[in-house]
Amino acid sequence: MTTIGVLGCGLMGAGIAQASAAAGFRTVVLEVDDATLARGLARIEKFLAGGVEKGKMTADEKARILANLSGTTSYDDLRDCGLVIEAIVEQVEAKRTAYARVEAVVGPDCLIATNTSSLCVTELAATTRRPDRFGGLHFFNPVPLMKLVEVIRAQTTSAATHDALLGVARAMGKEPVSAPDRGGFIVNRLLIPYLLDAIRCLEQGLGTVEDIDAAMKLGCGYPMGPFTLLDFVGLDTTYFIADILFDEFREARFAPPPLLKRMVLAGQLGRKSGRGFYTYA
Ligand code: CAA
Ligand code: NAD
Repeated sequence: MTTIGVLGCGLMGAGIAQASAAAGFRTVVLEVDDATLARGLARIEKFLAGGVEKGKMTADEKARILANLSGTTSYDDLRDCGLVIEAIVEQVEAKRTAYARVEAVVGPDCLIATNTSSLCVTELAATTRRPDRFGGLHFFNPVPLMKLVEVIRAQTTSAATHDALLGVARAMGKEPVSAPDRGGFIVNRLLIPYLLDAIRCLEQGLGTVEDIDAAMKLGCGYPMGPFTLLDFVGLDTTYFIADILFDEFREARFAPPPLLKRMVLAGQLGRKSGRGFYTYA
């Protein structure tokens, strides 16, 4: 496998494309229009420039990574890909349409992987003509700094496909962990109830946002307190994942608390909207 396609150059797609290009794969990242593509590529350039500034890489290494990377808005440019990683909006119908457009141009051996946080990978695989050559590659935000990739085996994923996806994750310098296609996989199944519980604690007056964050950060050695992390992941994303988990398991711990729902309805989505549990300049 020498060429990898990435669908979407947003928060996750840009990081995945960067990790792929840094691993030496020819990487083609696709966006919906030129302006969005330019914003995504600028995000990669900015991160790499930061790396050079911090002494994490040389200017030559940065240039080598960027030389492996090209952006496009045309599915035709994905034709040589051995793997296409999809990181577009979290909607089954949008993903199904994108897979059909990929399948119209790639060869029969090309694998497709989804970076979905919460959708059923088996359902997504079933929308394609290659359910055995389809699986999940679940990266974590911020992709260039987070070592974990959950490699998800759908009901239909072949052993060869699963092994190939584990290999790609390792080649990108990540630590892959195999996870079954069950709501939330491993990380979100454990992380989301913790984040929801933090909101319930706030609603019950257990402490302020700042105090709960400081307690979990300093008391447990977590890099971020739960409210900083909620703002970082996005309150809409958290709400969406919680809803899907609740739908799958029908357990109260996955039910989104009333405050979360109201903040999302009010457009208080965290860092991305400038306001969540904290306010951002
Ligand atoms: N290039 C290269 N290296 C860089 C860099 C760059 N542009 N920017 C930062 N780094 C390096 C730093 O030099 C530093 O390296 P050292 O440890 O060797 O010094 C390291 O990356 C950490 O950077 P910072 O010190 O600037 O930042 P930090 O210590 O505050 O860490 C963080 C930032 C990694 C995001 C940390 O806060 C963290 O791990 N937070 C939790 C994130 C998390 O939980 N993510 C998962 C969310 S859930 C999800 O993604 C799944 C889902 O489905 C929703
Ligand atoms: P985002 O909104 O930042 O980026 C999505 C990008 O996809 C946008 O730039 C959009 O223009 C583009 N896009 C939409 N439809 C497209 C199409 N048909 N073809 C090509 N590009 C298209 O979203 P994100 O946070 O990067 O999430 C992307 C995926 O990654 C979702 O499935 C999400 O669940 C998953 N994910 C998100 C996180 C997170 O913390 N945000 C973590 C892990 C996984």
